[in-house]
Amino acid sequence: MERSSLFSPFTLRGVTFRNRIGVSPMCQYSAVDGMAGPWHLTHLASRAVGGAGLVVTEAAAVVSQGRISPADLGLWSDAHRDALRPVAAAITDAGAVPGIQLAHAGRKGSTQIPWIGRDAVAEGGWAVPAPSALPFNRRSALTYTMGAEEIARTIIAFAEAARRAADAGFRFIECHFAHGYLVHQFLSPLTNLRDDAFGGGLEGRSRLALEIVRAVRAAIPAEIPLSVRLSCVDWVEGGWTLDDSITLARHLGEEGVDIVDCSSGALVPGAAPPDGPAVQRDFARAIRERAGLPTAAVGGITGAREADALIESGGADMVLIARAMLRDPYWALHAAEALGVEAAWPLPYKRAVT
Ligand SMILES: Cc1cc2nc3c(=O)[nH]c(=O)nc-3n(C[C@H](O)[C@H](O)[C@H](O)COP(=O)(O)O)c2cc1C
Repeated sequence: MERSSLFSPFTLRGVTFRNRIGVSPMCQYSAVDGMAGPWHLTHLASRAVGGAGLVVTEAAAVVSQGRISPADLGLWSDAHRDALRPVAAAITDAGAVPGIQLAHAGRKGSTQIPWIGRDAVAEGGWAVPAPSALPFNRRSALTYTMGAEEIARTIIAFAEAARRAADAGFRFIECHFAHGYLVHQFLSPLTNLRDDAFGGGLEGRSRLALEIVRAVRAAIPAEIPLSVRLSCVDWVEGGWTLDDSITLARHLGEEGVDIVDCSSGALVPGAAPPDGPAVQRDFARAIRERAGLPTAAVGGITGAREADALIESGGADMVLIARAMLRDPYWALHAAEALGVEAAWPLPYKRAVT
């Protein structure tokens, strides 16, 4: 049997991942009133059975108005926590660390589920808060400037959702500050035109992000690692830059964030990596080296050898895989076989398949 960096265990705080492979958060648009159901359990547990070290749920909204669509997952009540408990238990039982992504969509909320359309929800939709009343596009829901009181409530909502997530059995909590959702809208000078304490220069625009992670860290047990997903650049002239991400990552580390999940773009229509998401790996390496924090690389990772080389070369501490995991829930087990390392097939399967 070979030795592989991808399949070496990794520890953050009190949590050890059996390997460096994570299932990246992926919206399923299959919840009713924000509640997890059989689909969420099947989708997530099957990828834990498939050998991943970490399985992260889709973005779960911390308030109902923070959903992207009416079919998003949510965690704004104890009933939502109870619906998620079996999901966390099933992932744990299959040997993976259960993770959850906490989110607020801000001005990108109240849209239809993608296979129905891209317009704002006509019936049962809601007005969407943003740092400044700039709609995402011409089809967006009514967009208004968030007041100080709603900002304060949002910080508390992230903390309460994080506490519920820990209660439900999740052992990795990620704050979604990327992809043009609420906190990214506050970070970027393109979408934050405020002149109060939550706007202006980098420090003011970063305030919401830092206050959220401070509140979340205080709400969860010390042994649970905290992750933040950033859009490391906006891909738009005059927008958020990699240097901004490095500065913010240092401050996030001081507030008890343990790993930065390095994505990019999606702040304004069409703002995506020009040559595909593989370039995001450079951001994971740069933040790891220059901010001194562990990072997760994500985007366009499909092969076992490239994933292994990324970890081996110090480009990232974990790889997160989205679309390739949809095509093959057993991606991690197949990667182990490709690299010649012991594949952790579940015992009820092992004798039959190896
Ligand atoms: C169906 C689908 C749903 C997604 N939902 C989320 C999400 O809820 N939160 C998030 O941060 N990223 C989301 N993403 C982005 C992925 O997590 C990932 O960053 C992106 O797909 C690039 O990785 P890949 O090349 O391995 O697919 C989603 C991607 C897909 C394909």
